[in-house]
Amino acid sequence: MKIYVFGVRGDEEAPLKKWASENPDVSIDYTTDILTSETADNAKGFDGVCSVQREPYSREALKKLHDFGISKLSVRNVGTDGFDYKDLNDFSFTLTNVPVYSPNAIAEHASFLVGRLLRRVPEFDKKFENGNFKWAPTIGTEISGKTVGVIGTGHIGSVFARIMQFGYGAKVIAYDIDPNPALENLGIYVDSLDELLEQADIISLHTPLEPQDYHMIDADAISKMKQGSYIINCARGGLVDSQALIDGLDSGKIAGAGLDVLDNENGIFQKDFGSIDAVPNEKFKNLAKRDNVIITPHTAFYTKKAVHNMVYEAMDTQKALLSGEITKNIVDTKEF
Ligand code: COI
Repeated sequence: MKIYVFGVRGDEEAPLKKWASENPDVSIDYTTDILTSETADNAKGFDGVCSVQREPYSREALKKLHDFGISKLSVRNVGTDGFDYKDLNDFSFTLTNVPVYSPNAIAEHASFLVGRLLRRVPEFDKKFENGNFKWAPTIGTEISGKTVGVIGTGHIGSVFARIMQFGYGAKVIAYDIDPNPALENLGIYVDSLDELLEQADIISLHTPLEPQDYHMIDADAISKMKQGSYIINCARGGLVDSQALIDGLDSGKIAGAGLDVLDNENGIFQKDFGSIDAVPNEKFKNLAKRDNVIITPHTAFYTKKAVHNMVYEAMDTQKALLSGEITKNIVDTKEF
């Protein structure tokens, strides 16, 4: 059995090699390149493919894999919004993902963004660099007693809700079209997104990006929020309309934002521009230069434990698929 692995980062090499040494019946080869119509050629002669990337998967790349007789693709992450499901269906692919690799990695990161924003850490950092150790006027706000609105309560959202409620003593409210039975005893669910927008002081997004949720947080949604609300997005950039966020920050409706993902982050994150001014995206620059906006470059997932689990789970799944075993983690590509 031969598996070709695309987009292997330096930090993935050790777990991948360890996995290969524990699975001598599988022969693997890999590249640091992501899967494109050009690099797809590397997979010729292999039985299956494992991949991870933030850039969209092109139809041409999938067609090439199909032409090489490859029909099984395992991604080492959870989000499958980089695929056009029609392409996958046209070329009869079975796609698997890693739905749970470390919910804490992302939930903890989201909670740090809340803490850093409310205690105005970026402003203290700036003062510190200038040798200014005065308190005023950088007075903070406590999370305790605030209403935290959690949109999406799957694996990650539910850990975040617990951290906020039991760790910080916030009042947590949540909205989900499919409420999580494990959270029902907490009595946190509200009936509509509007209710959550109207009541929350801090709103944190933990939903996948499905087509109907594109720009879920737009000017209209922001107009329903409380004056001085905070927005945290560690889910998908497309959930928040960056221009509406900029307008909300300008008007003061939004007091601050913690963003691990951004609309149009592809082509920016994972690159080194040397300076913020060199980034070819005006909205990004506008947000990045604000003291009340914290941007992290899609790193909420990026912990040793998560990376290990992503590699192992995706490779185990691809091996099981190729062995003809029924496997978990199969993505329902027929849903759209
Ligand atoms: C995901 O798991 O979908 C992420 O956003 C992480 C990243 C490696 C793409």
